[in-house]
Amino acid sequence: MEDILNELETRREKARIGGGQKRIDTQHSKGKLTARERIELLVDEGSFEEWDMFVEQEPNELTAHVDPIPGDGVITGWGTINGRVVFVFSQDFTVFGGSLSEAHAKKICKMMDKAVSVGAPIIGLNDSGGARIQEGVGSLAGYAEVFQRNVDASGVVPQISAIMGPCAGGAVYSPAMTDFIFMVRDTSYMFVTGPDVVKTVTHEEVSHEELGGATTHNTKSGVADGAFDNDIDTLEQLRRFIDFLPMCNREKPPIIETTDPIDRAEPSLDSLVPRDSMKPYDIKELIVKVVDEGDFFELQPEYAGNIVIGFGRMEGRTIGFVANQPLVLAGCLDIDSAKKGARFVRFCDCFNIPLITFVDVPGFLPGTSQEFGGIIKHGAKLLFAYAEATVPKVTVITRKAYGGAYDVMSSKHIRGDLNYAWPTAEIAVMGPKGAVEIIYREDKDDIKKIEARTEEYRKRFANPFVAAQKGFIDDVIFPRNTRRRLCRALRLLENKEVNNIWKKHDNIPL
Ligand code: HXC
Repeated sequence: MEDILNELETRREKARIGGGQKRIDTQHSKGKLTARERIELLVDEGSFEEWDMFVEQEPNELTAHVDPIPGDGVITGWGTINGRVVFVFSQDFTVFGGSLSEAHAKKICKMMDKAVSVGAPIIGLNDSGGARIQEGVGSLAGYAEVFQRNVDASGVVPQISAIMGPCAGGAVYSPAMTDFIFMVRDTSYMFVTGPDVVKTVTHEEVSHEELGGATTHNTKSGVADGAFDNDIDTLEQLRRFIDFLPMCNREKPPIIETTDPIDRAEPSLDSLVPRDSMKPYDIKELIVKVVDEGDFFELQPEYAGNIVIGFGRMEGRTIGFVANQPLVLAGCLDIDSAKKGARFVRFCDCFNIPLITFVDVPGFLPGTSQEFGGIIKHGAKLLFAYAEATVPKVTVITRKAYGGAYDVMSSKHIRGDLNYAWPTAEIAVMGPKGAVEIIYREDKDDIKKIEARTEEYRKRFANPFVAAQKGFIDDVIFPRNTRRRLCRALRLLENKEVNNIWKKHDNIPL
Protein backbone atom coordinates (compact mmCIF):
# COMPACT_ATOMS: atom_id res chain seq x y z
CA MET A 1 0.00 0.00 0.00
CA GLU A 2 2.77 2.37 0.95
CA ASP A 3 4.33 2.10 -2.50
CA ILE A 4 1.02 3.11 -4.09
CA LEU A 5 0.81 6.16 -1.85
CA ASN A 6 4.42 6.97 -2.58
CA GLU A 7 3.75 6.82 -6.27
CA LEU A 8 0.98 9.38 -5.90
CA GLU A 9 3.37 11.66 -4.04
CA THR A 10 6.05 11.20 -6.69
CA ARG A 11 3.60 11.99 -9.48
CA ARG A 12 2.43 15.06 -7.63
CA GLU A 13 6.00 16.23 -7.09
CA LYS A 14 6.68 15.87 -10.80
CA ALA A 15 3.65 17.97 -11.63
CA ARG A 16 4.51 20.61 -9.02
CA ILE A 17 7.99 21.21 -10.41
CA GLY A 18 6.47 22.19 -13.80
CA GLY A 19 9.20 23.11 -16.27
CA GLY A 20 11.97 22.46 -13.73
CA GLN A 21 14.02 24.37 -11.19
CA LYS A 22 16.13 26.19 -13.78
CA ARG A 23 13.08 27.75 -15.37
CA ILE A 24 11.60 28.51 -11.95
CA ASP A 25 14.81 30.38 -11.11
CA THR A 26 14.53 32.34 -14.36
CA GLN A 27 10.95 33.23 -13.50
CA HIS A 28 12.09 34.50 -10.09
CA SER A 29 15.00 36.39 -11.59
CA LYS A 30 12.49 38.42 -13.63
CA GLY A 31 10.76 39.45 -10.40
CA LYS A 32 7.84 37.10 -11.12
CA LEU A 33 6.34 34.44 -8.87
CA THR A 34 5.53 30.98 -10.18
CA ALA A 35 1.99 29.97 -11.04
CA ARG A 36 1.66 28.00 -7.80
CA GLU A 37 3.15 30.71 -5.61
CA ARG A 38 0.62 33.12 -7.05
CA ILE A 39 -2.30 30.86 -6.20
CA GLU A 40 -1.00 30.44 -2.67
CA LEU A 41 -1.02 34.21 -2.19
CA LEU A 42 -4.38 34.67 -3.86
CA VAL A 43 -6.54 32.22 -1.95
CA ASP A 44 -6.95 31.52 1.76
CA GLU A 45 -4.18 29.39 3.19
CA GLY A 46 -4.75 25.68 2.58
CA SER A 47 -8.01 26.27 0.70
CA PHE A 48 -6.86 25.47 -2.85
CA GLU A 49 -7.99 22.21 -4.43
CA GLU A 50 -6.22 21.51 -7.65
CA TRP A 51 -7.91 19.68 -10.51
CA ASP A 52 -6.39 17.93 -13.50
CA MET A 53 -2.87 17.93 -12.15
CA PHE A 54 -2.08 14.86 -14.24
CA VAL A 55 -3.57 16.00 -17.54
CA GLU A 56 -1.07 15.83 -20.39
CA GLN A 57 -1.17 17.00 -23.96
CA GLU A 58 -1.00 14.13 -26.48
CA PRO A 59 2.38 14.20 -28.22
CA ASN A 60 2.57 14.97 -31.94
CA GLU A 61 5.42 14.79 -34.42
CA LEU A 62 6.82 18.09 -33.17
CA THR A 63 6.66 17.18 -29.50
CA ALA A 64 7.25 13.41 -29.53
CA HIS A 65 10.85 13.88 -28.35
CA VAL A 66 9.86 15.99 -25.31
CA ASP A 67 8.67 14.44 -22.06
CA PRO A 68 5.05 15.53 -21.51
CA ILE A 69 4.67 17.67 -18.41
CA PRO A 70 1.76 16.73 -16.17
CA GLY A 71 -0.64 19.62 -15.77
CA ASP A 72 0.36 21.00 -19.19
CA GLY A 73 1.31 24.51 -18.14
CA VAL A 74 -1.77 25.63 -16.30
CA ILE A 75 -2.93 25.07 -12.74
CA THR A 76 -6.68 24.98 -12.30
CA GLY A 77 -9.02 24.47 -9.39
CA TRP A 78 -10.89 26.33 -6.69
CA GLY A 79 -10.23 27.85 -3.31
CA THR A 80 -11.63 30.56 -1.10
CA ILE A 81 -10.90 34.23 -0.58
CA ASN A 82 -11.94 35.35 2.87
CA GLY A 83 -14.10 32.24 3.01
CA ARG A 84 -15.90 32.73 -0.32
CA VAL A 85 -15.38 30.32 -3.23
CA VAL A 86 -13.44 31.41 -6.31
CA PHE A 87 -12.31 29.37 -9.31
CA VAL A 88 -8.78 30.00 -10.50
CA PHE A 89 -6.50 29.20 -13.39
CA SER A 90 -2.87 30.16 -13.25
CA GLN A 91 -0.64 29.76 -16.30
CA ASP A 92 2.80 28.28 -15.66
CA PHE A 93 5.38 30.10 -17.75
CA THR A 94 7.98 27.44 -16.94
CA VAL A 95 6.09 24.93 -19.12
CA PHE A 96 6.34 25.86 -22.82
CA GLY A 97 6.18 29.50 -21.77
CA GLY A 98 2.66 28.99 -20.37
CA SER A 99 1.48 28.51 -23.95
CA LEU A 100 -1.96 27.12 -24.61
CA SER A 101 -2.52 23.64 -26.06
CA GLU A 102 -5.78 21.73 -26.43
CA ALA A 103 -5.28 20.04 -23.06
CA HIS A 104 -4.39 23.34 -21.39
CA ALA A 105 -7.56 24.92 -22.80
CA LYS A 106 -9.71 21.95 -21.75
CA LYS A 107 -8.56 22.38 -18.16
CA ILE A 108 -9.52 26.05 -18.18
CA CYS A 109 -12.89 25.28 -19.79
CA LYS A 110 -13.73 22.56 -17.28
CA MET A 111 -13.05 24.96 -14.44
CA MET A 112 -15.10 27.74 -16.08
CA ASP A 113 -18.04 25.41 -16.65
CA LYS A 114 -18.05 24.45 -13.00
CA ALA A 115 -17.74 28.07 -11.86
CA VAL A 116 -20.82 28.99 -13.88
CA SER A 117 -22.83 26.01 -12.67
CA VAL A 118 -22.08 26.59 -8.98
CA GLY A 119 -22.15 30.37 -9.31
CA ALA A 120 -18.72 31.62 -8.26
CA PRO A 121 -16.20 34.09 -9.74
CA ILE A 122 -13.48 33.09 -12.17
CA ILE A 123 -10.01 34.51 -11.73
CA GLY A 124 -7.41 34.00 -14.46
CA LEU A 125 -3.73 34.60 -13.75
CA ASN A 126 -2.30 35.02 -17.25
CA ASP A 127 1.37 34.46 -18.04
CA SER A 128 1.63 32.89 -21.46
CA GLY A 129 3.41 33.00 -24.81
CA GLY A 130 0.01 32.46 -26.49
CA ALA A 131 -1.00 29.60 -28.74
CA ARG A 132 1.40 26.66 -28.38
CA ILE A 133 3.16 26.83 -31.68
CA GLN A 134 3.78 23.06 -31.87
CA GLU A 135 0.04 22.34 -31.48
CA GLY A 136 -1.13 24.41 -34.44
CA VAL A 137 -4.85 24.67 -34.99
CA GLY A 138 -5.59 22.57 -31.90
CA SER A 139 -4.50 25.47 -29.73
CA LEU A 140 -6.53 27.97 -31.77
CA ALA A 141 -9.56 25.74 -31.23
CA GLY A 142 -8.73 25.70 -27.53
CA TYR A 143 -8.71 29.50 -27.39
CA ALA A 144 -12.06 29.70 -29.11
CA GLU A 145 -13.53 27.25 -26.58
CA VAL A 146 -12.34 29.58 -23.82
CA PHE A 147 -13.71 32.64 -25.62
CA GLN A 148 -17.13 31.06 -25.93
CA ARG A 149 -17.15 30.38 -22.21
CA ASN A 150 -16.09 33.96 -21.43
CA VAL A 151 -19.16 35.10 -23.31
CA ASP A 152 -21.46 32.52 -21.71
CA ALA A 153 -20.21 33.46 -18.24
CA SER A 154 -20.50 37.20 -18.87
CA GLY A 155 -23.13 38.65 -16.54
CA VAL A 156 -23.48 35.30 -14.76
CA VAL A 157 -20.33 35.18 -12.63
CA PRO A 158 -17.71 37.91 -12.23
CA GLN A 159 -14.62 37.22 -14.36
CA ILE A 160 -11.33 38.85 -13.46
CA SER A 161 -8.03 38.66 -15.31
CA ALA A 162 -4.65 39.42 -13.87
CA ILE A 163 -1.96 39.85 -16.53
CA MET A 164 1.27 38.76 -14.90
CA GLY A 165 3.52 38.18 -17.90
CA PRO A 166 3.09 38.12 -21.66
CA CYS A 167 -0.38 38.05 -23.20
CA ALA A 168 -0.19 38.47 -26.94
CA GLY A 169 -1.98 37.79 -30.18
CA GLY A 170 -5.54 36.53 -30.13
CA ALA A 171 -4.88 35.42 -26.55
CA VAL A 172 -5.69 38.94 -25.40
CA TYR A 173 -9.34 38.44 -26.29
CA SER A 174 -10.12 36.18 -23.40
CA PRO A 175 -9.06 38.77 -20.79
CA ALA A 176 -10.70 41.44 -22.93
CA MET A 177 -14.05 39.71 -22.51
CA THR A 178 -13.70 39.39 -18.75
CA ASP A 179 -15.07 42.08 -16.46
CA PHE A 180 -11.85 43.49 -15.09
CA ILE A 181 -8.18 43.39 -16.04
CA PHE A 182 -5.41 44.03 -13.52
CA MET A 183 -1.83 44.34 -14.73
CA VAL A 184 1.57 44.10 -13.06
CA ARG A 185 3.90 47.03 -13.75
CA ASP A 186 7.07 46.29 -15.73
CA THR A 187 6.53 42.51 -16.08
CA SER A 188 3.26 42.24 -17.97
CA TYR A 189 2.16 43.28 -21.42
CA MET A 190 -0.76 42.78 -23.78
CA PHE A 191 -0.93 43.41 -27.49
CA VAL A 192 -2.55 41.97 -30.58
CA THR A 193 0.67 42.19 -32.59
CA GLY A 194 4.10 42.59 -31.02
CA PRO A 195 6.82 45.19 -31.67
CA ASP A 196 8.44 43.17 -34.49
CA VAL A 197 5.24 42.92 -36.52
CA VAL A 198 4.49 46.55 -35.82
CA LYS A 199 7.91 47.49 -37.18
CA THR A 200 7.43 45.45 -40.34
CA VAL A 201 3.96 46.74 -41.07
CA THR A 202 4.01 50.36 -39.93
CA HIS A 203 7.76 50.98 -39.54
CA GLU A 204 7.17 52.20 -35.99
CA GLU A 205 9.81 51.31 -33.41
CA VAL A 206 8.21 50.60 -30.09
CA SER A 207 9.18 48.58 -27.01
CA HIS A 208 7.03 45.83 -25.44
CA GLU A 209 6.41 48.11 -22.48
CA GLU A 210 5.43 51.11 -24.55
CA LEU A 211 3.20 49.08 -26.86
CA GLY A 212 1.33 47.08 -24.26
CA GLY A 213 2.69 47.49 -20.75
CA ALA A 214 0.67 48.29 -17.66
CA THR A 215 1.17 52.03 -18.04
CA THR A 216 -0.05 52.01 -21.64
CA HIS A 217 -3.22 50.08 -20.86
CA ASN A 218 -3.96 52.02 -17.71
CA THR A 219 -3.39 55.50 -19.10
CA LYS A 220 -3.79 55.42 -22.88
CA SER A 221 -5.92 52.55 -24.12
CA GLY A 222 -8.21 52.05 -21.13
CA VAL A 223 -7.97 48.28 -21.65
CA ALA A 224 -6.90 47.65 -18.05
CA ASP A 225 -8.62 48.57 -14.80
CA GLY A 226 -5.65 48.76 -12.48
CA ALA A 227 -1.84 48.63 -12.41
CA PHE A 228 0.08 47.31 -9.43
CA ASP A 229 3.75 47.30 -8.55
CA ASN A 230 4.49 43.58 -8.44
CA ASP A 231 2.89 40.14 -8.22
CA ILE A 232 2.33 40.31 -4.46
CA ASP A 233 0.68 43.72 -4.58
CA THR A 234 -1.54 42.62 -7.48
CA LEU A 235 -2.71 39.48 -5.70
CA GLU A 236 -3.36 41.34 -2.45
CA GLN A 237 -5.46 43.91 -4.30
CA LEU A 238 -7.33 41.11 -6.07
CA ARG A 239 -8.26 39.68 -2.66
CA ARG A 240 -9.45 43.09 -1.50
CA PHE A 241 -11.35 43.60 -4.75
CA ILE A 242 -13.19 40.28 -4.75
CA ASP A 243 -14.67 41.13 -1.35
CA PHE A 244 -16.75 43.82 -3.06
CA LEU A 245 -18.32 41.44 -5.58
CA PRO A 246 -21.22 39.03 -5.40
CA MET A 247 -20.56 35.40 -6.24
CA CYS A 248 -22.91 35.47 -9.22
CA ASN A 249 -25.89 37.25 -10.75
CA ARG A 250 -28.35 35.37 -8.53
CA GLU A 251 -26.80 36.83 -5.38
CA LYS A 252 -26.46 40.18 -3.75
CA PRO A 253 -22.97 41.38 -2.87
CA PRO A 254 -21.59 40.33 0.52
CA ILE A 255 -22.25 42.44 3.60
CA ILE A 256 -19.08 43.41 5.45
CA GLU A 257 -19.64 44.48 9.03
CA THR A 258 -18.88 48.10 9.71
CA THR A 259 -18.73 50.33 12.77
CA ASP A 260 -19.16 53.46 10.66
CA PRO A 261 -22.46 55.06 11.77
CA ILE A 262 -25.10 55.68 9.14
CA ASP A 263 -25.71 59.19 10.47
CA ARG A 264 -22.07 60.27 10.46
CA ALA A 265 -22.23 63.94 9.48
CA GLU A 266 -19.36 65.47 7.50
CA PRO A 267 -19.46 69.24 8.10
CA SER A 268 -16.45 69.70 5.81
CA LEU A 269 -18.65 68.76 2.84
CA ASP A 270 -20.64 71.97 3.32
CA SER A 271 -17.67 73.85 1.90
CA LEU A 272 -16.41 71.27 -0.62
CA VAL A 273 -17.91 73.11 -3.59
CA PRO A 274 -16.13 76.46 -4.09
CA ARG A 275 -18.25 79.62 -4.30
CA ASP A 276 -16.79 80.36 -7.70
CA SER A 277 -18.45 77.81 -9.95
CA MET A 278 -15.48 77.87 -12.34
CA LYS A 279 -13.16 76.57 -9.62
CA PRO A 280 -12.48 72.85 -9.49
CA TYR A 281 -12.52 70.56 -6.45
CA ASP A 282 -11.81 66.89 -5.94
CA ILE A 283 -14.95 64.75 -6.18
CA LYS A 284 -13.04 61.81 -4.70
CA GLU A 285 -13.05 63.69 -1.39
CA LEU A 286 -16.84 63.38 -1.40
CA ILE A 287 -16.75 59.67 -2.20
CA VAL A 288 -14.17 58.88 0.46
CA LYS A 289 -16.09 60.91 3.04
CA VAL A 290 -19.40 59.13 2.50
CA VAL A 291 -18.34 55.49 2.13
CA ASP A 292 -17.88 53.14 5.08
CA GLU A 293 -14.55 53.79 6.74
CA GLY A 294 -13.27 55.74 3.73
CA ASP A 295 -12.62 52.49 1.86
CA PHE A 296 -13.00 53.16 -1.87
CA PHE A 297 -11.63 50.82 -4.57
CA GLU A 298 -11.15 53.00 -7.60
CA LEU A 299 -11.00 51.42 -11.05
CA GLN A 300 -9.13 52.92 -14.00
CA PRO A 301 -7.80 55.74 -11.81
CA GLU A 302 -5.32 56.88 -14.46
CA TYR A 303 -7.61 56.76 -17.48
CA ALA A 304 -10.36 59.25 -18.40
CA GLY A 305 -9.94 60.99 -15.08
CA ASN A 306 -12.94 63.22 -15.82
CA ILE A 307 -15.12 60.39 -14.57
CA VAL A 308 -14.40 58.43 -11.39
CA ILE A 309 -15.66 54.86 -11.00
CA GLY A 310 -15.20 52.26 -8.31
CA PHE A 311 -16.64 50.36 -5.40
CA GLY A 312 -17.28 51.42 -1.85
CA ARG A 313 -19.71 50.26 0.82
CA MET A 314 -22.65 51.88 2.56
CA GLU A 315 -23.76 50.13 5.75
CA GLY A 316 -21.55 47.21 4.71
CA ARG A 317 -23.16 46.74 1.29
CA THR A 318 -21.24 47.16 -1.96
CA ILE A 319 -22.16 50.20 -4.03
CA GLY A 320 -20.89 51.23 -7.45
CA PHE A 321 -19.87 54.90 -7.51
CA VAL A 322 -19.82 57.00 -10.65
CA ALA A 323 -18.81 60.63 -10.36
CA ASN A 324 -17.85 63.48 -12.65
CA GLN A 325 -14.46 64.85 -11.67
CA PRO A 326 -14.23 68.67 -11.90
CA LEU A 327 -10.43 68.45 -11.59
CA VAL A 328 -10.10 66.93 -15.08
CA LEU A 329 -11.58 68.65 -18.17
CA ALA A 330 -13.90 70.44 -15.72
CA GLY A 331 -15.77 67.15 -15.41
CA CYS A 332 -17.01 67.18 -19.03
CA LEU A 333 -18.15 63.92 -20.54
CA ASP A 334 -16.10 62.80 -23.51
CA ILE A 335 -15.66 59.60 -25.51
CA ASP A 336 -13.33 57.87 -23.07
CA SER A 337 -15.22 58.79 -19.92
CA ALA A 338 -18.56 57.76 -21.45
CA LYS A 339 -17.19 54.32 -22.36
CA LYS A 340 -15.51 53.94 -18.97
CA GLY A 341 -18.68 54.87 -17.11
CA ALA A 342 -21.00 52.81 -19.29
CA ARG A 343 -19.14 49.54 -18.88
CA PHE A 344 -19.00 50.02 -15.13
CA VAL A 345 -22.72 50.82 -14.86
CA ARG A 346 -23.50 47.68 -16.86
CA PHE A 347 -21.31 45.53 -14.63
CA CYS A 348 -23.10 46.84 -11.54
CA ASP A 349 -26.47 46.22 -13.13
CA CYS A 350 -25.53 42.63 -14.09
CA PHE A 351 -24.53 41.86 -10.54
CA ASN A 352 -27.16 43.62 -8.45
CA ILE A 353 -24.86 46.36 -7.21
CA PRO A 354 -26.72 49.64 -6.51
CA LEU A 355 -25.37 52.79 -8.11
CA ILE A 356 -24.62 56.13 -6.52
CA THR A 357 -23.92 58.92 -8.99
CA PHE A 358 -22.36 62.25 -8.06
CA VAL A 359 -22.98 64.84 -10.73
CA ASP A 360 -20.94 67.91 -11.57
CA VAL A 361 -20.93 68.04 -15.34
CA PRO A 362 -20.83 71.13 -17.55
CA GLY A 363 -21.81 69.05 -20.59
CA PHE A 364 -20.20 67.04 -23.35
CA LEU A 365 -16.70 68.06 -24.42
CA PRO A 366 -16.91 70.15 -27.60
CA GLY A 367 -14.52 69.82 -30.53
CA THR A 368 -13.78 68.16 -33.82
CA SER A 369 -11.76 65.36 -32.28
CA GLN A 370 -14.74 64.38 -30.18
CA GLU A 371 -17.26 64.66 -33.01
CA PHE A 372 -15.03 62.88 -35.52
CA GLY A 373 -14.33 60.22 -32.91
CA GLY A 374 -18.02 59.52 -32.54
CA ILE A 375 -18.95 61.16 -29.24
CA ILE A 376 -22.59 60.83 -30.34
CA LYS A 377 -22.41 57.06 -30.30
CA HIS A 378 -20.01 56.75 -27.36
CA GLY A 379 -21.89 59.26 -25.22
CA ALA A 380 -25.03 57.27 -25.94
CA LYS A 381 -23.41 54.23 -24.32
CA LEU A 382 -23.50 55.87 -20.91
CA LEU A 383 -27.05 57.08 -21.44
CA PHE A 384 -28.12 53.63 -22.58
CA ALA A 385 -26.38 51.91 -19.68
CA TYR A 386 -28.04 54.09 -17.06
CA ALA A 387 -31.45 53.91 -18.72
CA GLU A 388 -31.49 50.12 -18.92
CA ALA A 389 -30.12 49.60 -15.39
CA THR A 390 -32.72 48.31 -12.93
CA VAL A 391 -30.59 48.29 -9.78
CA PRO A 392 -31.26 51.01 -7.18
CA LYS A 393 -30.00 54.30 -8.56
CA VAL A 394 -29.40 57.25 -6.27
CA THR A 395 -28.09 60.53 -7.63
CA VAL A 396 -26.67 63.62 -5.95
CA ILE A 397 -26.03 66.73 -8.01
CA THR A 398 -23.32 68.69 -6.26
CA ARG A 399 -22.93 71.51 -8.74
CA LYS A 400 -23.34 71.62 -12.53
CA ALA A 401 -25.83 69.46 -14.35
CA TYR A 402 -26.13 71.03 -17.75
CA GLY A 403 -27.74 70.00 -20.99
CA GLY A 404 -27.81 66.44 -22.25
CA ALA A 405 -25.26 65.47 -19.63
CA TYR A 406 -27.86 66.23 -16.94
CA ASP A 407 -30.18 63.69 -18.53
CA VAL A 408 -27.42 61.11 -18.93
CA MET A 409 -26.09 61.15 -15.38
CA SER A 410 -28.77 58.98 -13.79
CA SER A 411 -31.45 61.66 -13.93
CA LYS A 412 -35.01 61.11 -12.74
CA HIS A 413 -36.14 60.80 -16.34
CA ILE A 414 -34.13 57.65 -16.97
CA ARG A 415 -35.46 55.95 -13.86
CA GLY A 416 -33.21 57.49 -11.22
CA ASP A 417 -34.91 56.28 -8.02
CA LEU A 418 -33.91 59.06 -5.69
CA ASN A 419 -32.42 62.25 -7.01
CA TYR A 420 -30.96 64.73 -4.57
CA ALA A 421 -29.22 68.04 -5.08
CA TRP A 422 -26.95 70.09 -2.90
CA PRO A 423 -27.95 73.75 -2.55
CA THR A 424 -24.95 74.57 -4.77
CA ALA A 425 -26.48 72.65 -7.70
CA GLU A 426 -26.98 74.40 -11.03
CA ILE A 427 -29.42 72.51 -13.21
CA ALA A 428 -30.16 74.08 -16.59
CA VAL A 429 -29.93 73.66 -20.33
CA MET A 430 -26.55 75.36 -20.31
CA GLY A 431 -24.28 77.54 -18.16
CA PRO A 432 -25.42 81.14 -17.52
CA LYS A 433 -22.79 82.75 -19.75
CA GLY A 434 -23.50 80.58 -22.78
CA ALA A 435 -27.24 80.90 -22.29
CA VAL A 436 -27.17 84.71 -22.10
CA GLU A 437 -24.91 85.01 -25.13
CA ILE A 438 -27.49 83.13 -27.16
CA ILE A 439 -30.72 84.53 -25.77
CA TYR A 440 -29.47 88.12 -25.68
CA ARG A 441 -27.30 88.07 -28.76
CA GLU A 442 -28.28 91.66 -29.55
CA ASP A 443 -26.53 92.79 -26.32
CA LYS A 444 -23.32 90.89 -27.00
CA ASP A 445 -21.14 94.03 -27.23
CA ASP A 446 -22.51 95.57 -24.03
CA ILE A 447 -20.40 93.87 -21.39
CA LYS A 448 -22.27 95.44 -18.47
CA LYS A 449 -25.63 94.35 -19.80
CA ILE A 450 -24.36 90.84 -20.46
CA GLU A 451 -22.96 90.63 -16.93
CA ALA A 452 -26.24 91.75 -15.42
CA ARG A 453 -28.22 89.31 -17.56
CA THR A 454 -25.83 86.49 -16.64
CA GLU A 455 -26.30 87.19 -12.95
CA GLU A 456 -30.06 87.31 -13.41
CA TYR A 457 -30.02 84.00 -15.29
CA ARG A 458 -27.82 82.42 -12.63
CA LYS A 459 -30.25 83.44 -9.90
CA ARG A 460 -33.35 82.37 -11.78
CA PHE A 461 -32.24 79.14 -13.42
CA ALA A 462 -28.82 77.98 -12.25
CA ASN A 463 -30.00 76.51 -8.97
CA PRO A 464 -31.63 73.28 -7.85
CA PHE A 465 -35.06 74.73 -7.11
CA VAL A 466 -36.47 74.94 -10.62
CA ALA A 467 -35.90 71.18 -11.00
CA ALA A 468 -37.13 70.60 -7.44
CA GLN A 469 -40.37 72.49 -8.20
CA LYS A 470 -41.03 70.03 -10.99
CA GLY A 471 -40.24 67.03 -8.81
CA PHE A 472 -37.18 66.12 -10.90
CA ILE A 473 -35.16 66.49 -7.71
CA ASP A 474 -36.68 64.73 -4.72
CA ASP A 475 -34.99 66.96 -2.16
CA VAL A 476 -32.31 69.58 -1.76
CA ILE A 477 -30.08 68.28 1.00
CA PHE A 478 -27.37 69.61 3.27
CA PRO A 479 -23.99 68.36 2.01
CA ARG A 480 -22.95 67.36 5.52
CA ASN A 481 -25.85 64.89 5.69
CA THR A 482 -25.11 63.16 2.39
CA ARG A 483 -24.03 59.86 3.93
CA ARG A 484 -27.14 59.58 6.06
CA ARG A 485 -29.45 60.43 3.17
CA LEU A 486 -27.74 57.95 0.87
CA CYS A 487 -27.81 55.14 3.42
CA ARG A 488 -31.49 55.70 4.08
CA ALA A 489 -32.23 55.81 0.35
CA LEU A 490 -30.40 52.54 -0.23
CA ARG A 491 -32.24 50.86 2.66
CA LEU A 492 -35.52 51.98 1.15
CA LEU A 493 -34.58 50.63 -2.25
CA GLU A 494 -33.09 47.38 -1.06
CA ASN A 495 -35.88 45.23 -2.43
CA LYS A 496 -36.70 47.39 -5.42
CA GLU A 497 -38.11 45.47 -8.35
CA VAL A 498 -38.31 46.77 -11.89
CA ASN A 499 -38.36 44.60 -14.95
CA ASN A 500 -37.39 45.68 -18.41
CA ILE A 501 -39.58 44.66 -21.32
CA TRP A 502 -38.77 41.11 -22.51
CA LYS A 503 -36.34 40.98 -25.38
CA LYS A 504 -33.64 38.67 -26.61
CA HIS A 505 -31.06 41.30 -25.79
CA ASP A 506 -30.74 45.01 -26.32
CA ASN A 507 -28.64 46.70 -28.95
CA ILE A 508 -26.43 49.12 -27.04
CA PRO A 509 -24.63 51.50 -29.44
CA LEU A 510 -21.24 49.77 -29.57
C1 HXC B 1 5.46 27.12 -27.48
C2 HXC B 1 6.64 28.71 -26.35
C3 HXC B 1 5.76 29.71 -26.81
C4 HXC B 1 4.69 29.31 -27.66
C5 HXC B 1 7.25 30.63 -25.57
N1 HXC B 1 7.54 29.34 -25.60
N2 HXC B 1 6.16 30.88 -26.32
N3 HXC B 1 6.49 27.43 -26.70
N4 HXC B 1 4.57 28.00 -27.96
N5 HXC B 1 3.80 30.20 -28.11
C6 HXC B 1 8.63 28.67 -24.88
C7 HXC B 1 10.01 28.99 -25.45
O1 HXC B 1 10.32 28.13 -26.49
C8 HXC B 1 10.88 28.75 -24.22
O2 HXC B 1 11.07 27.37 -24.08
C9 HXC B 1 10.00 29.19 -23.08
O3 HXC B 1 8.66 29.16 -23.57
C10 HXC B 1 10.30 30.59 -22.61
O4 HXC B 1 10.35 31.43 -23.73
P1 HXC B 1 11.50 32.53 -23.92
O5 HXC B 1 11.37 33.04 -25.31
O6 HXC B 1 12.80 31.96 -23.49
O7 HXC B 1 11.05 33.60 -22.85
P2 HXC B 1 11.10 35.18 -22.94
O8 HXC B 1 12.44 35.62 -23.45
O9 HXC B 1 10.63 35.68 -21.63
O10 HXC B 1 10.03 35.58 -24.09
C11 HXC B 1 8.67 35.29 -23.90
C12 HXC B 1 7.88 35.55 -25.22
C13 HXC B 1 8.53 34.74 -26.35
C14 HXC B 1 7.94 37.02 -25.54
C15 HXC B 1 6.45 35.13 -24.95
O11 HXC B 1 8.72 33.40 -25.95
C16 HXC B 1 7.69 34.72 -27.58
O12 HXC B 1 7.70 35.71 -28.35
N6 HXC B 1 7.01 33.63 -27.81
C17 HXC B 1 6.20 33.44 -28.98
C18 HXC B 1 4.95 34.21 -28.85
C19 HXC B 1 4.03 33.96 -29.97
O13 HXC B 1 4.31 34.33 -31.13
N7 HXC B 1 2.93 33.26 -29.68
C20 HXC B 1 1.94 32.96 -30.65
C21 HXC B 1 1.07 34.18 -30.67
S1 HXC B 1 -0.24 33.98 -31.74
P3 HXC B 1 12.31 26.73 -23.32
O14 HXC B 1 12.18 25.28 -23.57
O15 HXC B 1 13.53 27.36 -23.97
O16 HXC B 1 12.17 27.10 -21.90
C22 HXC B 1 -1.41 33.45 -30.72
C23 HXC B 1 -2.66 33.21 -31.44
C24 HXC B 1 -3.74 33.02 -30.49
O17 HXC B 1 -1.26 33.29 -29.60
C25 HXC B 1 -4.98 33.05 -31.29
C26 HXC B 1 -6.16 32.88 -30.46
C27 HXC B 1 -7.38 33.07 -31.30
